[in-house]
Amino acid sequence: MVKICCIGAGYVGGPTMAVIALKCPSVQVAVVDIAQKRIEAWNSDKLPIYEPGLDDVVKQCRGKNLFFSTEVEKHVAEADIVFVSVNTPTKTTGLGAGKAADLTYWESAARMIADVSKSSKIVVEKSTVPVKTAEAIEKILTHNSKGIKFQILSNPEFLAEGTAIQDLFNPDRVLIGGRETPEGQNAIKALKDVYAHWVPEDRILTTNLWSAELSKLAANAFLAQRISSVNAMSALCEATGANVIEVSYAVGKDTRIGPKFLNASVGFGGSCFQKDILNLVYICECNGLPEVAEYWKQVIKINDYQKNRFVNRVVASMFNTVAKKKIAILGFAFKKDTGDTRETPAIDVCKGLLGDKAELSIYDPQVTEDQIHKDLALSKFDWDHPLHLQPMSASSSTEKQVTVVGDAYEAAKGAHGLCIMTEWDEFKTLDYKKIFDNMQKPAFVFDGRNVVNADQLREIGFIVFSIGKPL
Ligand code: NAD
Ligand code: UGA
Repeated sequence: MVKICCIGAGYVGGPTMAVIALKCPSVQVAVVDIAQKRIEAWNSDKLPIYEPGLDDVVKQCRGKNLFFSTEVEKHVAEADIVFVSVNTPTKTTGLGAGKAADLTYWESAARMIADVSKSSKIVVEKSTVPVKTAEAIEKILTHNSKGIKFQILSNPEFLAEGTAIQDLFNPDRVLIGGRETPEGQNAIKALKDVYAHWVPEDRILTTNLWSAELSKLAANAFLAQRISSVNAMSALCEATGANVIEVSYAVGKDTRIGPKFLNASVGFGGSCFQKDILNLVYICECNGLPEVAEYWKQVIKINDYQKNRFVNRVVASMFNTVAKKKIAILGFAFKKDTGDTRETPAIDVCKGLLGDKAELSIYDPQVTEDQIHKDLALSKFDWDHPLHLQPMSASSSTEKQVTVVGDAYEAAKGAHGLCIMTEWDEFKTLDYKKIFDNMQKPAFVFDGRNVVNADQLREIGFIVFSIGKPL
């Protein structure tokens, strides 16, 4: 029986390994983590992450061929294939701070693998890492090799949160990069055999290590670039009377461009787009390619511009001040169908409004009150360093200005304005007449996701601003 161990039981490690266990009953999968609470949650009825379909997959295999454990060293020692799916956030201090990837977690995992291994292993980079990381990891793995052979593979993950299970069941492609030596090719084949249990052979791509590592950064950069492109157009639409929905539909109809990832929004969020592009920018700079670095930097700049533009729009249209005005924030997660708030645009928008002394009433179907207060108290780039953080409470001034409530109607009661930050389906079908009746007048709606029917809301009496649409 092939034994797999995955270090890191997060948004990637948990779902990916659960699907491998489901699709490969002959493979034993252990997912290990140093975060005890996370592992306890994976072993409970309330999983640590909300992801449609995940509960069902975990229930089918947990305790059979899928195990969650804090016994990191034991499971690593026993495994034939070790996936490393630890977090690789943006560095906050030192060389490359604010851009380069922080590989502290990766390095400590690699050192531990080298120290505890008693048999040869395939070590798989599942985390998103800078191109050439495998070279450094090889050096670390062999520093104490005791004659043990390690083959390192790059197998980046392309799942998106909210659709992770669907994406894992039916991936556009699985990418495996390895050394071009006979040993490297054998390792590629061993990993390919795992995925071949359910992924058609023509969708399993094999490349050299550096192509696989770079393809992951490139894919995220291309996806984010599409969003920044359409968001840049949304500003021009607002200035000219064009409608961004019509423009992106017309543009996306060109089969060379395609319709996906052209939804204008308040800005992209999530744990990866920004960090991976910053990482790409840093790699370009380190390789003496400042023009290329500058090109990709613009994707982030437009994203920041879009979030600022949204805040400015709210403040300017509410008579240039939101001081002491209650504003309802609908949605806090970075996209629908997840409770993940890492780098959510809602954080920047809320901070912008709080800076103008607004009083916020926030509702999200999946994000806890505690999480929202923590997020609003964090400084930039702190979000992905849970292991370094002390238990924290929001600053008292922020806490006074922010309440978190259990539904959208409660959030909107007595509010002057309503900002839609996440495209949760339930926001499309709210009783907006009831909401209007309970708000201060004039009642404003700022739709950061283009989910409401603006004309219908205007008929009710709202003043509506939608991203990229004529007023
Ligand atoms: P995460 O923070 O949810 O999970 C990482 C886990 O690794 C944490 O639970 C942490 O406790 C654990 N960990 C860190 N160091 C460890 C160590 N030395 N030993 C054992 N456990 C350790 O992160 P994530 O969202 O799952 O992302 C993981 C990687 O996958 C990142 O590189 C990310 O860029 C990439 N990625 C993420 C997504 C996504 O949708 N979130 C998609 C594709 C790729
Ligand atoms: C993204 C990629 O889609 C995955 O392929 C990749 O594996 C992952 O990053 C990663 O490396 O972490 P994710 O961030 O989970 O996945 O979610 P997306 O669906 O890509 O959405 C990212 C952000 O862009 C969200 O805030 C979303 O609302 C926004 N978005 C997306 C738009 O504003 N417009 C769009 O048209 C699409």
